[in-house]
Amino acid sequence: MEVIVVGTPEEAAPIVAEAYTTLLTRKPDAVLGLATGSTPLGVYRELIRRHREEGLSFAQAQAFNLDEYVGLPAGHPELYRTFIEREFTGQVDFAPDAVHGPDGLAEDLLGAAADYDRAIRDAGGIDIQILGIGADGHLAFNMPGSSLVSRTRLKTLTSKTRQDNARFFDGDIDQVPKHCLTQGLGTIMECRHAIMLGFGKGKAQAVAECVEGGVSARWPASILQMHPHATVVVDEDAASQLRLTNYYINTYDGKPDWQGI
Ligand code: PGA
Repeated sequence: MEVIVVGTPEEAAPIVAEAYTTLLTRKPDAVLGLATGSTPLGVYRELIRRHREEGLSFAQAQAFNLDEYVGLPAGHPELYRTFIEREFTGQVDFAPDAVHGPDGLAEDLLGAAADYDRAIRDAGGIDIQILGIGADGHLAFNMPGSSLVSRTRLKTLTSKTRQDNARFFDGDIDQVPKHCLTQGLGTIMECRHAIMLGFGKGKAQAVAECVEGGVSARWPASILQMHPHATVVVDEDAASQLRLTNYYINTYDGKPDWQGI
């Protein structure tokens, strides 16, 4: 696991975007794993800038979203599919139908979850999966207690999560869906490169537990310690409870220029 400590979230964006640029240059038909939340927005903005100003193209690429609410109608502004399209994929040149998400309106939700897992494999697996981390260590909707080998599945949202997300639904918790479909931790672990971002003091404990604590379902993102190619990019606030910060800074500073993340 490589840990990169940056001064501000803005400094993380070009570091992460460079990994996409390298990948898409080598493999234009790469498969990208996308996340919602505020954390990846800087990276998406930098990728959009590179598309507009430097010709970075996603025309042959595919994308798979991490998760989706169950039951929100098509086009609802809080659908994760809508969010990703608004914030990223709709602003670059993905082909129509190249961006996939779990089908939260399927009649057979369990079948839709299994189909989604299979679709990722059939596409050849995800090359780069971008991830935010929850303050409780969750990854996607894999909350504390989630099986470390779980697959894409139906999950019930806790009232805490629904309360947290009510701000996007006019502050009305009753409008927040009660269920979601989410890639499982086992599904996420099959990506070839996992890039997890964490910004702000609110993420400091989760980052410390997941990077330097034991691997445990109590802190779901800790499973990334078992990933052969995981990069964690955190700002100084999110890094503030790490113990090996000097080591991380020294190793990243000492990397050969030609070696990306
Ligand atoms: P955030 O959410 O990016 O909005 O902080 C991350 C998460 O909960 O996975």
